[in-house]
Amino acid sequence: MADPETARNGREAIERVGCAACHEIPGIAWPKGRTGPSLVGFDDIGPIAGALPNTPKNLAAFVRNAPVARPGSAMPAMPLSEEEARDVAAYLYGLDDE
Ligand code: HEC
Repeated sequence: MADPETARNGREAIERVGCAACHEIPGIAWPKGRTGPSLVGFDDIGPIAGALPNTPKNLAAFVRNAPVARPGSAMPAMPLSEEEARDVAAYLYGLDDE
């Protein structure tokens, strides 16, 4: 489970860069995007984008630079620092805890 401050930082980063323009993400007040898959219960699904083992490290790398983490991914690279990407991953993994 993510500590509350990490998860809060992650949520702020998600709002700042606008992940919800393409994804349904619980706790984020944006019009729900439908370009990408819903991230509800994200930690219960299989591999990230069908390709990467579902670990915090892989998730952080993917949300920051999807086309490098999974060549051919339709998700663009996002303007996150490495630390922000880790916080975003922690937020996504913590979604079930609330
Ligand atoms: C321009 C639209 C767009 C934006 C903005 C976007 N994504 Fe995505 N995202 C996608 C698409 C399309 C996919 C599917 C890509 C693939 O399968 O490789 C995806 C896949 C994902 C996945 C994998 C989902 C799964 O079921 O395996 C995660 C996690 C994710 N995005 C998180 C984020 C986060 C966090 C942000 C903000 C930092 C973000 N996305 C911003 C379009 C977007």
